[in-house]
Amino acid sequence: ARKFFVGGNWKCNGTGEDVKKIVTVLNEAEVPSEDVVEVVVSPPFVFLPQVKGLLRPDFSVAAQNCWVRKGGAFTGEISAEMLVNLQVPWVILGHSERRALMGESSDFVADKIAYTLSQGIKVIACIGETLEQREAGTTMEVVAAQTKAIAEKISDWTNVVLAYEPVWAIGTGKVATPAQAQEVHDGLRKWLVTNVSPAVAESTRIIYGGSVNGANCKELAAKPDVDGFLVGGASLKPEFVDIIKSAT
Ligand code: 13P
Repeated sequence: ARKFFVGGNWKCNGTGEDVKKIVTVLNEAEVPSEDVVEVVVSPPFVFLPQVKGLLRPDFSVAAQNCWVRKGGAFTGEISAEMLVNLQVPWVILGHSERRALMGESSDFVADKIAYTLSQGIKVIACIGETLEQREAGTTMEVVAAQTKAIAEKISDWTNVVLAYEPVWAIGTGKVATPAQAQEVHDGLRKWLVTNVSPAVAESTRIIYGGSVNGANCKELAAKPDVDGFLVGGASLKPEFVDIIKSAT
């Protein structure tokens, strides 16, 4: 069985004080055990050491990005080696905000994923269609192409969580319906069966992101192919605890 996965993507938000408050709420929360749900929070780079130091041991941390290859003369970048050095076990790669705002292509994202995995860091790989693409009926085509770019560059999916985040649902309050999420997750799993392997399809967690909150998570979590969430806005609030609890 696939262990439920809940990621909190804090994006480019917060101060050191905010970090303390959020971590305190998480540390005091009663949630299902780590055998049942894997919880990973992703603060901005500068707060990673602080969060790592304060956070309860059954939760872990992710970076929100990293450089595509070995570090060096790349001003402003953070390398996978540095994340290893800091013992950061996870990284989010290919988030739609980076694809759209920073121009990261599917090939570039796939290169990052392959390099990061090679360094022993686990990856939350994000994919998802725009509203225009959904309305044009090309959702499956788009997410399959994004997944294909990854599949061409990696062979071991053990340390990958696939995050389906429709761009139109991110930060908009317009959450995908459970049926819409299930349809795409099921399509992705079938794509993995055919193009990678039935074993990888069966074991890879496919999580949903986009306007998930404490009120809508239960119904989404009940869908058979929704293996967890990647949460933005609500991960900065106490309701993130309710989302973690939707694992059971
Ligand atoms: P929201 O939950 O704020 O819509 O953001 C989702 C997201 O982008 C998580 O990576």
